[in-house]
Amino acid sequence: MKTAKKIIFWTLVGFVLIQFFPMDRVNKPVDSKVNFVQVKNTPEKVRTLLKNACYDCHSNETVYPKYAYVAPISWSVKSHVNDGRQRLNFSVWGTYNKELKENMLDRSMEALKHKTMPLPGYIVYHDEAKLTEAERTLLIQYFDEMLKSKTY
Ligand code: HEC
Repeated sequence: MKTAKKIIFWTLVGFVLIQFFPMDRVNKPVDSKVNFVQVKNTPEKVRTLLKNACYDCHSNETVYPKYAYVAPISWSVKSHVNDGRQRLNFSVWGTYNKELKENMLDRSMEALKHKTMPLPGYIVYHDEAKLTEAERTLLIQYFDEMLKSKTY
């Protein structure tokens, strides 16, 4: 019993202490000249879908949910955001070269088709990211048209 109490005590102390590790949640400013939805003048409906379902991890406009302020969950959230941005950051779309743009449009369509994006764990806490079949199709069509007409 004594040992169990000690374990609980030190676990709680540990939990409190990790809350003090600094974390950078400041978003970099968005340049409208290279931001995907602005450069492409994305139609309102598609723009809303992208912002609701992708922009939290693939842009510099991340809105952190409340649970993202509690360690160690915050570490996982931040690592997804860092990882997501590193691979595809819609906020800097205009700086990508032709190959990268084509590649990203192609992979985005694949991810939407196979429902690997938005990340399944994220959807659980974000109703607005729960895309319907029709919404997935709309995004796929939008990316596909851009790819085929080479207007990326
Ligand atoms: C909760 C965070 C999160 C959301 C929301 C999210 N992604 Fe991702 N995405 C990631 C992470 C993390 C990776 C890298 C790891 C992986 O591939 O699983 C990634 C990878 C990708 C890749 C692959 C890039 C490559 O190099 O292969 C594409 C494309 C992509 N996401 C598109 C999207 C699209 C489109 C949406 C919206 C419909 C979306 N993502 C929503 C976190 C997210």
